[in-house]
Amino acid sequence: MSLQYLADKGMEYAKRALACDRGGDYENAIKFYKLSIELFTKYLALYPESPLSDFYKELISKYRDRIKVLEDKLENSSKSTESTSTQDSDMPFEVLMPNRRPNKTFSDLVDLDEVKKALKRAVVYSVLNPSLYPLGWPRAILLFGPPGCGKTELALALSNEINATLIHVTPATIMSKWLGDAEKNVKRLFETARKISSSGTPVIIFIDEVDGLFQQYSTEVGGEKRVRNQFLIEMDGLSGKEHSNVHVFIIGATNKPWALDIGFIRRFEKRILVPAPSKDVRKRLFEYYVSKLSKTYNIRDINYDELAEKTEYYSSADIVAIVKEVQADVVEEISERKISPHERPITMSDFLRVIERHRPSIDYSHLEAYREWNKQYGTLE
Ligand SMILES: Nc1ncnc2c1ncn2[C@@H]1O[C@H](COP(=O)(O)OP(=O)(O)O)[C@@H](O)[C@H]1O
Ligand SMILES: [Mg+2]
Repeated sequence: MSLQYLADKGMEYAKRALACDRGGDYENAIKFYKLSIELFTKYLALYPESPLSDFYKELISKYRDRIKVLEDKLENSSKSTESTSTQDSDMPFEVLMPNRRPNKTFSDLVDLDEVKKALKRAVVYSVLNPSLYPLGWPRAILLFGPPGCGKTELALALSNEINATLIHVTPATIMSKWLGDAEKNVKRLFETARKISSSGTPVIIFIDEVDGLFQQYSTEVGGEKRVRNQFLIEMDGLSGKEHSNVHVFIIGATNKPWALDIGFIRRFEKRILVPAPSKDVRKRLFEYYVSKLSKTYNIRDINYDELAEKTEYYSSADIVAIVKEVQADVVEEISERKISPHERPITMSDFLRVIERHRPSIDYSHLEAYREWNKQYGTLE
């Protein structure tokens, strides 16, 4: 076993741990953090003079802390949900009923008009009026585009538009179960969806960062392949006759459409680009988020055109972050100087200062790649 192998393998487990952690699958997160610590520790024992030794030591201590936090969480949640939980905690997905999630709809998202229109045509009208679709409606839709530009928000808003039950799946979480029964979990996922929809409630299976299903792991043991195949089979099943009246939709989202396998791409009948915000949209995003600040603060002399001009290649998420940083700066000042909010107006210079230190997160070369991919695989109608 080479040294590099130990380090790489450790990183791979760490990534899986983080993905599980983010997906709320704490048991597996703990398991993978522990595996990762074990491998890093071995690596350090064999190669103490490694230039990266401090880096790995830091990771080890960070993961140890995190394991403690997660173990506490698990202990508390098993105490508090013992009697009330109806959900199988072993499921690699999360079922969110309409009343259990943020209630944003399309109107809470600035612009993205083309995407909203496409989603209405593909999903909303078919739920409202299934009898108008003798030829059926699309079952699987892929949203692709640069990070931080609204894909996840759109999927959430769509499920609110049609009052659907949302089943949130993170492939990394599913894949982390390859040690056990990933395939069975995929079946359970679709069974759950069918069961819920048979009571008349539309269901959206939302696979965020769907490219994770197709990632190459250095240690494929065959499990990953079976999971993928099971997904494809289930997706085909949904367009079968026996489902012609069932409203189960699969919405996939990805920043890396080019990482997807062609067989998988084909199963998504609609492939919709969620674009980076144009200058006009960036202006509206600033106006939208600053207007929320204006309830608490005096806003003075903001030149929105200039803000939009200065933020080429900034994503919607970047713009939200900028407005939040301005807020944080102002709160800090108010707290330090012990003054009241109306004594500290928010001005253009607050924004310019923050933009100066906040780098854009969209890569120009990627934008080109999205356009190309859209030309080749995108569907707009
Ligand atoms: N059109 C929009 N209007 C308002 N806020 C937006 C819009 N698009 C994205 N955001 C905000 O940007 C952030 C990132 O959006 P998200 O949907 O997570 O991006 P993605 O899934 O494409 O990476 C969120 O805070 C979201 O509220
Ligand atoms: Mg997202």
